[in-house]
Amino acid sequence: MSPALNFLGGYLYLAQAMPLDPGRHLVLHPGAPQANHIEWLYWVIFWILLAVYVLMIAGFTRAGAKTRVAADRPLPVIENEAGDRRAAWAVGSAVAVTVLTLFAILVMSVITGKRVEGLTSKNPVTIQITGHQWWWEVTYPNSQADQTITTANEIHVPVKTPVVVLTNSVDVIHSFWAPSITGKRDLLPGYSSAFWFQIDQPGTYRGQCAEFCGLQHAHMGFSVVAEPVDQFQAWQQQQLKPAADPTSEEASRGREVFLTHACLMCHTIRGTDAGSRVGPDLTHIASRNMIAAETLPNTPGALAGWILDPQRIKPGTEMSPNVLSPDDLQSLITYLRSLE
Ligand code: CUA
Repeated sequence: MSPALNFLGGYLYLAQAMPLDPGRHLVLHPGAPQANHIEWLYWVIFWILLAVYVLMIAGFTRAGAKTRVAADRPLPVIENEAGDRRAAWAVGSAVAVTVLTLFAILVMSVITGKRVEGLTSKNPVTIQITGHQWWWEVTYPNSQADQTITTANEIHVPVKTPVVVLTNSVDVIHSFWAPSITGKRDLLPGYSSAFWFQIDQPGTYRGQCAEFCGLQHAHMGFSVVAEPVDQFQAWQQQQLKPAADPTSEEASRGREVFLTHACLMCHTIRGTDAGSRVGPDLTHIASRNMIAAETLPNTPGALAGWILDPQRIKPGTEMSPNVLSPDDLQSLITYLRSLE
Protein backbone atom coordinates (compact mmCIF):
# COMPACT_ATOMS: atom_id res chain seq x y z
CA MET A 1 0.00 0.00 0.00
CA SER A 2 1.27 3.49 -0.71
CA PRO A 3 2.33 5.61 2.30
CA ALA A 4 -0.53 8.04 1.63
CA LEU A 5 -3.13 5.23 1.77
CA ASN A 6 -1.47 3.84 4.88
CA PHE A 7 -1.70 7.24 6.52
CA LEU A 8 -5.35 7.66 5.54
CA GLY A 9 -6.13 4.15 6.80
CA GLY A 10 -4.47 4.94 10.13
CA TYR A 11 -6.46 8.13 10.51
CA LEU A 12 -9.76 6.43 9.70
CA TYR A 13 -8.94 3.67 12.17
CA LEU A 14 -8.26 6.23 14.89
CA ALA A 15 -11.43 8.17 14.04
CA GLN A 16 -13.66 5.09 14.38
CA ALA A 17 -11.81 3.81 17.46
CA MET A 18 -12.47 6.98 19.45
CA PRO A 19 -14.84 6.00 22.23
CA LEU A 20 -16.71 9.29 22.53
CA ASP A 21 -17.85 12.01 20.20
CA PRO A 22 -14.53 12.99 18.62
CA GLY A 23 -15.94 16.43 17.92
CA ARG A 24 -15.50 17.15 21.61
CA HIS A 25 -12.06 15.62 21.89
CA LEU A 26 -10.12 16.84 18.90
CA VAL A 27 -7.75 19.69 18.20
CA LEU A 28 -9.64 20.18 14.93
CA HIS A 29 -12.95 20.82 16.71
CA PRO A 30 -12.09 23.74 18.98
CA GLY A 31 -14.71 24.97 21.44
CA ALA A 32 -12.58 27.67 23.02
CA PRO A 33 -10.59 30.71 21.84
CA GLN A 34 -7.27 29.14 22.81
CA ALA A 35 -8.06 25.96 20.91
CA ASN A 36 -8.91 28.17 17.88
CA HIS A 37 -5.37 29.58 17.93
CA ILE A 38 -3.87 26.12 18.20
CA GLU A 39 -6.04 24.85 15.35
CA TRP A 40 -4.93 27.80 13.20
CA LEU A 41 -1.27 26.92 13.80
CA TYR A 42 -2.02 23.28 13.06
CA TRP A 43 -3.45 24.12 9.63
CA VAL A 44 -0.66 26.56 8.71
CA ILE A 45 1.96 23.89 9.44
CA PHE A 46 -0.15 21.20 7.76
CA TRP A 47 -0.39 23.10 4.47
CA ILE A 48 3.30 24.02 4.49
CA LEU A 49 4.28 20.40 5.07
CA LEU A 50 1.83 19.18 2.44
CA ALA A 51 3.34 21.59 -0.10
CA VAL A 52 6.86 20.39 0.79
CA TYR A 53 5.74 16.77 0.46
CA VAL A 54 4.13 17.32 -2.96
CA LEU A 55 7.19 19.22 -4.23
CA MET A 56 9.54 16.49 -3.02
CA ILE A 57 7.53 13.70 -4.61
CA ALA A 58 7.23 15.69 -7.86
CA GLY A 59 11.01 16.26 -7.88
CA PHE A 60 11.80 12.59 -7.28
CA THR A 61 9.29 11.47 -9.89
CA ARG A 62 10.75 13.87 -12.48
CA ALA A 63 14.32 12.77 -11.71
CA GLY A 64 13.29 9.12 -11.88
CA ALA A 65 11.49 9.59 -15.18
CA LYS A 66 14.54 11.31 -16.72
CA THR A 67 16.99 8.58 -15.73
CA ARG A 68 17.70 6.37 -18.71
CA VAL A 69 20.23 4.06 -17.04
CA ALA A 70 19.20 0.60 -15.89
CA ALA A 71 19.26 0.22 -12.11
CA ASP A 72 22.05 -2.40 -12.11
CA ARG A 73 24.48 -0.25 -14.14
CA PRO A 74 26.80 2.34 -12.55
CA LEU A 75 25.71 5.94 -13.12
CA PRO A 76 27.57 7.64 -15.96
CA VAL A 77 29.78 10.61 -15.08
CA ILE A 78 28.48 13.66 -16.93
CA GLU A 79 30.77 16.67 -17.34
CA ASN A 80 28.49 19.70 -17.46
CA GLU A 81 29.72 22.91 -15.82
CA ALA A 82 26.60 24.93 -16.60
CA GLY A 83 24.47 22.12 -15.18
CA ASP A 84 26.58 21.99 -11.99
CA ARG A 85 26.17 25.72 -11.51
CA ARG A 86 22.40 25.43 -11.96
CA ALA A 87 22.30 22.58 -9.45
CA ALA A 88 24.38 24.54 -6.91
CA TRP A 89 22.04 27.52 -7.32
CA ALA A 90 18.96 25.32 -6.89
CA VAL A 91 20.34 23.65 -3.74
CA GLY A 92 21.39 27.04 -2.30
CA SER A 93 17.95 28.58 -2.85
CA ALA A 94 16.22 25.49 -1.49
CA VAL A 95 18.30 25.75 1.71
CA ALA A 96 17.46 29.47 1.99
CA VAL A 97 13.73 28.84 1.49
CA THR A 98 13.84 26.03 4.09
CA VAL A 99 15.56 28.22 6.68
CA LEU A 100 13.11 31.09 6.05
CA THR A 101 10.10 28.73 6.29
CA LEU A 102 11.33 27.19 9.53
CA PHE A 103 11.93 30.66 10.93
CA ALA A 104 8.40 31.74 9.90
CA ILE A 105 6.94 28.64 11.63
CA LEU A 106 8.97 29.46 14.74
CA VAL A 107 7.60 33.02 14.80
CA MET A 108 4.03 31.77 14.30
CA SER A 109 4.46 29.22 17.11
CA VAL A 110 5.68 31.94 19.47
CA ILE A 111 2.78 34.22 18.50
CA THR A 112 0.29 31.38 19.03
CA GLY A 113 1.88 30.61 22.40
CA LYS A 114 1.48 34.24 23.44
CA ARG A 115 -2.16 34.31 22.32
CA VAL A 116 -2.93 31.09 24.21
CA GLU A 117 -1.34 32.47 27.39
CA GLY A 118 -2.66 35.98 27.05
CA LEU A 119 -6.33 35.72 27.90
CA THR A 120 -7.40 38.77 29.89
CA SER A 121 -8.71 37.95 33.32
CA LYS A 122 -11.87 39.54 34.64
CA ASN A 123 -13.45 37.83 37.66
CA PRO A 124 -12.21 34.38 36.77
CA VAL A 125 -13.49 31.16 38.30
CA THR A 126 -10.62 29.47 40.14
CA ILE A 127 -10.25 25.71 40.19
CA GLN A 128 -7.59 23.61 41.87
CA ILE A 129 -6.87 20.40 39.95
CA THR A 130 -4.72 17.76 41.62
CA GLY A 131 -3.50 14.69 39.77
CA HIS A 132 -3.69 11.29 41.44
CA GLN A 133 -2.88 7.83 40.11
CA TRP A 134 -5.35 7.65 38.33
CA TRP A 135 -8.01 10.29 38.76
CA TRP A 136 -8.40 14.04 39.01
CA GLU A 137 -9.30 15.81 42.25
CA VAL A 138 -11.17 19.00 41.49
CA THR A 139 -11.63 21.72 44.10
CA TYR A 140 -13.28 25.13 43.83
CA PRO A 141 -11.42 26.91 46.61
CA ASN A 142 -13.08 29.52 48.77
CA SER A 143 -11.76 31.45 51.78
CA GLN A 144 -14.62 29.94 53.78
CA ALA A 145 -14.07 26.22 54.15
CA ASP A 146 -17.80 25.44 54.02
CA GLN A 147 -18.02 27.22 50.65
CA THR A 148 -15.35 25.03 49.06
CA ILE A 149 -16.53 22.45 46.54
CA THR A 150 -14.64 19.19 46.06
CA THR A 151 -15.42 16.74 43.30
CA ALA A 152 -13.60 14.41 40.91
CA ASN A 153 -13.04 13.97 37.19
CA GLU A 154 -16.02 16.06 36.07
CA ILE A 155 -15.17 19.75 35.93
CA HIS A 156 -18.03 22.21 35.65
CA VAL A 157 -17.32 25.70 34.34
CA PRO A 158 -19.50 28.60 33.19
CA VAL A 159 -19.27 29.52 29.49
CA LYS A 160 -17.66 32.75 28.30
CA THR A 161 -15.90 33.15 31.66
CA PRO A 162 -12.16 32.86 32.21
CA VAL A 163 -11.24 29.86 34.33
CA VAL A 164 -7.95 29.90 36.24
CA VAL A 165 -6.65 26.41 36.96
CA LEU A 166 -4.13 25.87 39.74
CA THR A 167 -2.33 22.57 39.25
CA ASN A 168 -0.62 20.09 41.51
CA SER A 169 -0.01 16.37 41.79
CA VAL A 170 0.27 14.07 44.79
CA ASP A 171 2.40 11.38 43.17
CA VAL A 172 3.91 11.55 39.66
CA ILE A 173 3.73 13.92 36.70
CA HIS A 174 0.34 13.97 34.99
CA SER A 175 -0.74 16.14 32.10
CA PHE A 176 -4.10 17.85 31.74
CA TRP A 177 -5.18 17.76 28.12
CA ALA A 178 -8.57 18.63 26.68
CA PRO A 179 -7.72 19.16 23.00
CA SER A 180 -10.90 21.07 22.14
CA ILE A 181 -10.14 23.59 24.89
CA THR A 182 -6.42 24.29 25.11
CA GLY A 183 -2.95 22.76 24.99
CA LYS A 184 -1.42 20.26 27.40
CA ARG A 185 -0.45 21.34 30.91
CA ASP A 186 1.74 19.25 33.16
CA LEU A 187 0.75 18.66 36.78
CA LEU A 188 3.98 18.36 38.77
CA PRO A 189 4.19 16.80 42.23
CA GLY A 190 4.98 19.34 44.93
CA TYR A 191 4.94 22.23 42.51
CA SER A 192 1.92 24.42 41.99
CA SER A 193 1.52 26.27 38.72
CA ALA A 194 -1.40 27.91 36.96
CA PHE A 195 -2.95 28.30 33.54
CA TRP A 196 -6.28 29.35 32.28
CA PHE A 197 -8.86 28.71 29.63
CA GLN A 198 -12.23 29.92 28.54
CA ILE A 199 -14.97 27.98 26.77
CA ASP A 200 -17.45 29.81 24.56
CA GLN A 201 -19.68 26.96 23.42
CA PRO A 202 -21.71 25.01 25.99
CA GLY A 203 -21.14 21.29 25.95
CA THR A 204 -19.19 18.43 27.44
CA TYR A 205 -15.56 18.27 26.41
CA ARG A 206 -13.49 15.20 27.02
CA GLY A 207 -9.94 15.29 28.32
CA GLN A 208 -7.25 12.78 29.00
CA CYS A 209 -4.03 12.53 30.96
CA ALA A 210 -1.29 13.08 28.39
CA GLU A 211 1.81 12.13 30.37
CA PHE A 212 2.56 8.47 31.01
CA CYS A 213 1.92 8.06 34.73
CA GLY A 214 1.75 4.34 35.35
CA LEU A 215 -0.41 1.32 34.69
CA GLN A 216 -3.76 3.09 34.27
CA HIS A 217 -2.53 6.20 32.48
CA ALA A 218 -4.88 5.44 29.58
CA HIS A 219 -7.83 5.27 32.00
CA MET A 220 -7.21 8.70 33.48
CA GLY A 221 -9.86 10.65 31.67
CA PHE A 222 -11.88 13.66 32.70
CA SER A 223 -14.61 15.82 31.26
CA VAL A 224 -15.22 19.54 31.27
CA VAL A 225 -18.88 20.52 31.31
CA ALA A 226 -19.33 24.08 30.08
CA GLU A 227 -22.76 25.47 30.88
CA PRO A 228 -24.60 28.80 30.99
CA VAL A 229 -23.84 30.84 34.11
CA ASP A 230 -27.21 30.19 35.81
CA GLN A 231 -26.87 26.42 35.34
CA PHE A 232 -23.32 26.55 36.65
CA GLN A 233 -24.45 28.44 39.74
CA ALA A 234 -27.23 25.94 40.33
CA TRP A 235 -24.66 23.16 40.09
CA GLN A 236 -22.44 25.00 42.59
CA GLN A 237 -25.32 25.41 45.06
CA GLN A 238 -26.13 21.72 44.81
CA GLN A 239 -22.48 20.68 45.28
CA LEU A 240 -22.12 22.87 48.36
CA LYS A 241 -24.82 20.97 50.20
CA PRO A 242 -23.81 18.08 52.46
CA ALA A 243 -24.93 14.63 51.36
CA ALA A 244 -28.66 14.08 51.29
CA ASP A 245 -29.99 11.99 54.17
CA PRO A 246 -31.33 8.60 53.11
CA THR A 247 -35.06 8.72 52.41
CA SER A 248 -35.67 4.98 52.30
CA GLU A 249 -34.95 2.02 54.54
CA GLU A 250 -32.65 0.54 51.94
CA ALA A 251 -30.62 3.72 51.39
CA SER A 252 -30.30 4.08 55.14
CA ARG A 253 -28.92 0.55 55.32
CA GLY A 254 -26.62 1.42 52.43
CA ARG A 255 -25.16 4.31 54.39
CA GLU A 256 -24.55 1.91 57.27
CA VAL A 257 -22.73 -0.44 54.88
CA PHE A 258 -20.61 2.44 53.62
CA LEU A 259 -19.64 3.52 57.12
CA THR A 260 -18.87 0.03 58.41
CA HIS A 261 -16.78 -1.21 55.49
CA ALA A 262 -13.51 -0.18 53.85
CA CYS A 263 -15.24 2.63 51.90
CA LEU A 264 -14.80 5.19 54.67
CA MET A 265 -11.04 4.55 54.86
CA CYS A 266 -10.56 6.37 51.55
CA HIS A 267 -13.64 8.43 50.68
CA THR A 268 -15.45 11.49 51.95
CA ILE A 269 -19.19 11.86 52.11
CA ARG A 270 -19.80 15.24 53.72
CA GLY A 271 -22.45 15.10 56.40
CA THR A 272 -21.33 11.62 57.51
CA ASP A 273 -18.31 10.28 59.43
CA ALA A 274 -16.50 9.45 56.19
CA GLY A 275 -13.84 12.11 55.70
CA SER A 276 -10.78 10.54 54.12
CA ARG A 277 -9.30 12.12 51.02
CA VAL A 278 -7.35 9.21 49.58
CA GLY A 279 -9.97 8.61 46.88
CA PRO A 280 -12.60 10.81 45.22
CA ASP A 281 -15.14 12.75 47.30
CA LEU A 282 -18.46 10.92 46.91
CA THR A 283 -20.79 13.49 48.51
CA HIS A 284 -22.52 14.05 45.16
CA ILE A 285 -21.41 11.02 43.19
CA ALA A 286 -24.86 10.50 41.69
CA SER A 287 -24.58 13.87 39.93
CA ARG A 288 -21.62 12.69 37.84
CA ASN A 289 -21.97 11.06 34.43
CA MET A 290 -19.08 8.65 34.70
CA ILE A 291 -17.07 6.89 37.40
CA ALA A 292 -13.46 5.66 37.74
CA ALA A 293 -12.04 8.68 35.86
CA GLU A 294 -14.36 8.42 32.84
CA THR A 295 -13.81 4.68 32.57
CA LEU A 296 -17.35 3.49 33.29
CA PRO A 297 -20.81 5.06 32.95
CA ASN A 298 -22.36 5.94 36.29
CA THR A 299 -24.97 3.17 36.26
CA PRO A 300 -25.95 0.75 39.07
CA GLY A 301 -24.34 -2.19 37.25
CA ALA A 302 -21.05 -0.43 36.54
CA LEU A 303 -20.95 0.91 40.09
CA ALA A 304 -21.48 -2.60 41.50
CA GLY A 305 -18.76 -4.06 39.27
CA TRP A 306 -16.38 -1.31 40.28
CA ILE A 307 -17.02 -1.70 44.03
CA LEU A 308 -16.65 -5.50 43.97
CA ASP A 309 -13.58 -5.80 41.75
CA PRO A 310 -11.91 -2.53 40.77
CA GLN A 311 -8.64 -4.38 40.12
CA ARG A 312 -10.25 -6.20 37.22
CA ILE A 313 -11.42 -2.94 35.64
CA LYS A 314 -8.33 -0.85 36.39
CA PRO A 315 -5.50 -3.19 37.47
CA GLY A 316 -3.17 -1.39 39.84
CA THR A 317 -5.73 1.13 41.07
CA GLU A 318 -5.46 2.03 44.77
CA MET A 319 -8.97 0.74 45.47
CA SER A 320 -9.05 -2.80 46.80
CA PRO A 321 -11.74 -5.40 46.04
CA ASN A 322 -14.69 -5.57 48.44
CA VAL A 323 -16.52 -8.63 49.65
CA LEU A 324 -20.16 -7.70 50.22
CA SER A 325 -23.29 -9.77 50.51
CA PRO A 326 -25.75 -9.19 47.64
CA ASP A 327 -28.11 -7.37 50.03
CA ASP A 328 -25.37 -5.12 51.35
CA LEU A 329 -24.21 -4.34 47.82
CA GLN A 330 -27.74 -3.56 46.67
CA SER A 331 -28.30 -1.21 49.63
CA LEU A 332 -24.94 0.47 49.12
CA ILE A 333 -25.72 1.11 45.45
CA THR A 334 -29.14 2.49 46.35
CA TYR A 335 -27.51 4.86 48.84
CA LEU A 336 -24.77 6.02 46.43
CA ARG A 337 -27.34 6.53 43.67
CA SER A 338 -29.29 8.85 46.00
CA LEU A 339 -26.33 11.21 46.44
CA GLU A 340 -27.36 13.74 43.83
CU1 CUA B 1 -1.95 10.63 34.76
CU2 CUA B 1 -1.08 9.76 32.73
